[in-house]
Amino acid sequence: MKKQVKNNVSWVGKVDWELQSFHGEELSTHKGSSYNSYLIQEEKTVLIDTVWVPFAEEFVENLEKEIDLNEIDYIIANHGEVDHSGALSALMKRIPDKPIYCTANAVKSLKGQYHQDWNFKVVKTGDKIDIGNGKELIFVEMAMLHWPDSMATYLTKDNILFSNDAFGQHYATEKLFNDLVDQCELFEESIKYFANILTPFNFMLRKKLDEIIALNLPIDMIATGHGIIWRDNPMQIVEKYSAWANDYQENQITIIYDTMWNGTKSLAEMIAQGISKTDSEVVVKLFNIAKSDENDIITEVFKSKTVIMGSPTVGNNILHTVTGFIQLMKSMKFKNKKSAAFGCYGWSGESVKILNDLMGDAGFEVIGEGFRNQWNPDENALNEAVSFGETIAKM
Ligand code: FEO
Repeated sequence: MKKQVKNNVSWVGKVDWELQSFHGEELSTHKGSSYNSYLIQEEKTVLIDTVWVPFAEEFVENLEKEIDLNEIDYIIANHGEVDHSGALSALMKRIPDKPIYCTANAVKSLKGQYHQDWNFKVVKTGDKIDIGNGKELIFVEMAMLHWPDSMATYLTKDNILFSNDAFGQHYATEKLFNDLVDQCELFEESIKYFANILTPFNFMLRKKLDEIIALNLPIDMIATGHGIIWRDNPMQIVEKYSAWANDYQENQITIIYDTMWNGTKSLAEMIAQGISKTDSEVVVKLFNIAKSDENDIITEVFKSKTVIMGSPTVGNNILHTVTGFIQLMKSMKFKNKKSAAFGCYGWSGESVKILNDLMGDAGFEVIGEGFRNQWNPDENALNEAVSFGETIAKM
């Protein structure tokens, strides 16, 4: 159902309440998501982005209830990924000759995915199209935010930035605007989205944010590709992105472990006590990787100044859950974070050294040699774990 955004701009997307994972099973989406598509009806009619493939027919049928598809003058594809371009095939079957405005890279990604030679019009930053009534669309390339083909589209006079993935959240809601939803949920989903999707591109993101600010465009709304539209103080999310893109950290230490017979778990809890005893201000959180959502833990790592990894030794190695999670952290390219390691062992006891090596390779600054304990920890070992926590807190 069409919903008014501002003046002659409407939302015509899809709210996906059932979505529990994204990018296959790579990213958890506990609160669903939405695929935001926008219709602008000035002298020219413009469609900005579409929806994910499973909703393609539904999307086109709904759009046909609102307008004669032949009235569409311009289609804007801000990004080629299937969650935004997924209804193009169904749409272009009905209106095959309509022009699709996108970046040169988006031509590659759209052709690569749909194998169609549609009427592409390549645009670069600063290019404009006149849509009548004194309004223009201005394009801004957003390469690596988060694909090489990404761009944003700015609508003059209404001052709306259609930002696609940037500034979004995987957050299903019938409310269209940021001021109408629960603020805790909104910012939880915004930071999770940033931590898990955009962190690897921090360097390019910083430059892009500076570029957007330097354009000095008045922005009344940021209409994202997922989640809500920022209309109440829209620059608040740009400011958040500026902070998050600058090797962000809070006063938090996160302990992440897996355990076989609860020895390593006991150490984790004692280390947490030692940290809290030494620094009452620091936030300490513990996660058993095998029992927690990995994307939620990544968000906690994103907020942390120090990450303490724990695994028992098994088969001269560490538990594969821990190896996999360190690999995930490595792909996030975190900067400016310290790490330490701990774990129980029965015989050979390599886990702590392996953890330190892997964490160093993942870009963390390893502090100290770590703490290891043979067999199940006794009272003395538990006290030593507390002391280890105290030492980490002081570092
Ligand atoms: Fe990069 Fe929302 O797709």
